[in-house]
This record gives sequence, structure tokens and C-alpha cells, in this order.
Amino acid sequence: MMSSFPLVSFLITLMLAAAVCTQGYEPALDTAENPILTSAQYLIQPYSPRSNGGGLLPVPVKLLPLCPLGISQSSVTALPGLPVSFSYPYPLMDTYVNEGQAVNIEFRSEAWPGCEEFSKYWEVDESSSASEEPAILVGGKKRERNSWFRIERKENFVGGNAYKLTTLAGTIGTIPGPWENAPQLVLTNDTAKTFLVKFHKVHGDTTATTSTSRLEKLGLGMFPFY
Ligand SMILES: *[C@@H]1O[C@H](CO)[C@@H](O)[C@H](O)[C@H]1NC(C)=O
Repeated sequence: MMSSFPLVSFLITLMLAAAVCTQGYEPALDTAENPILTSAQYLIQPYSPRSNGGGLLPVPVKLLPLCPLGISQSSVTALPGLPVSFSYPYPLMDTYVNEGQAVNIEFRSEAWPGCEEFSKYWEVDESSSASEEPAILVGGKKRERNSWFRIERKENFVGGNAYKLTTLAGTIGTIPGPWENAPQLVLTNDTAKTFLVKFHKVHGDTTATTSTSRLEKLGLGMFPFY
């Protein structure tokens, strides 16, 4: 009996720490006004229907090296893109995805254009060749700070839940990318480029996203390497 006591008190400490950590945080909401869950998958889509791009796809954003891939909005506004899931770098709080807390963002799709040796976690390009507005890449590491993002509500916005994604070094925005100028995700301080988003929960059996017909609907055929 006695030997299990240190473990129990350790767990209680962890639970208290988790309670303190989550205090004062609001869960971010999806398009149905429900809290975003770490257990579900979401399409990150432009908030404005007048945006000149659709959902998010992993694409090559530089030629040398081709990997890791970057992230671009689909050039076709109607295409939903690939789903993502959100998780915490450390598994203490794991039901709701809260505004303002560091989370990992991971693409959830079996269909993938290449660079399979990289993870599907998002990260900020911190390589020496990164430009002033560094690209958001796919190939992050859960515990590394350049793979941590925060969901922030865009204040003073009328109607619906508009959010932006930030890091400690800037906000995710878009610039014209290499694919027919489809908007590419970068980290920027230029508020004119801020990528306002909404989160649409993916319903039903998530394995359906891997079926071919579904993929064609997602528009993966638009890239020559798919
Ligand atoms: C944004 O500004 C901060 C503070 O000046 C700076 O540290 C950071 O590198 C900038 N980020 C980008 C992407 O320009």
C-alpha cells in the first residue's frame, strides 16, 4: 500500500497543475459553435467566403530542397482541403482546444504527395534559408517550440467565430505562392496578410477521407504528383 502513495500524490499534483493551467482559458469554437476537441478532426478554412483560396493542402514551396512540404490554400475556393487535428505538446489537458494555448497542428490524411520521412505536424521554417516571412512547413516535432501554434479569436469581428493562428514570433498570414499564386501560409507581422480562419468539424468515419473518390473531391488531382 505505502509504495503506491508517492505515485498517487504525484498524480494529484499533476491534476492540480492541469486545473491551474486550464483556468481562464476558453475553448475555441467550430463553425457549429461547439468547442473544438482534441479527439476530432477539422478543416481549417478561410473565414471569408470572398477569400481567393480554398482549404489547406500540403504542397512543395521550394525546389531545393523539395522537402519538407509547405502549406497552401487550394487555388479552387470550393475545395475543402485536408483535415487536421489539434493536440497539446504535453498530454495534461486533452479534451478541449483552448484559445491562446500552445497546440500542435497535424494533418490527418493517408493521401500524401511525398516527403513521407517527415511528420505531418506543422512547423515554422527556422532553417538558415528561411525568408523574412518564414514558410509554415509540414515536418514539425511535437515538443519543439517552432511546432507550437495558438488559436486566437479575432476581436471586433461581427458574425461568427473568426480566428487567427499565431506563434510567439508572429501570425499566420498568406502570400501568393508557387501554385497558380494560390495563397501560401507564412509567419508574418503584417496584419494586412492575416489568414482569418474558421474550423469545420469533419463528420462521420474519418477513415473515409482516404478513399479515392473522396480524394478527388478534395481536389488532390490538381497537383501533378498526386
Ligand atoms: C515580428 O516581430 C517580432 C518583434 O519585433 C520579431 O521578433 C519577429 O521576428 C517578427 N516576425 C516576423 C515573422 O516578421
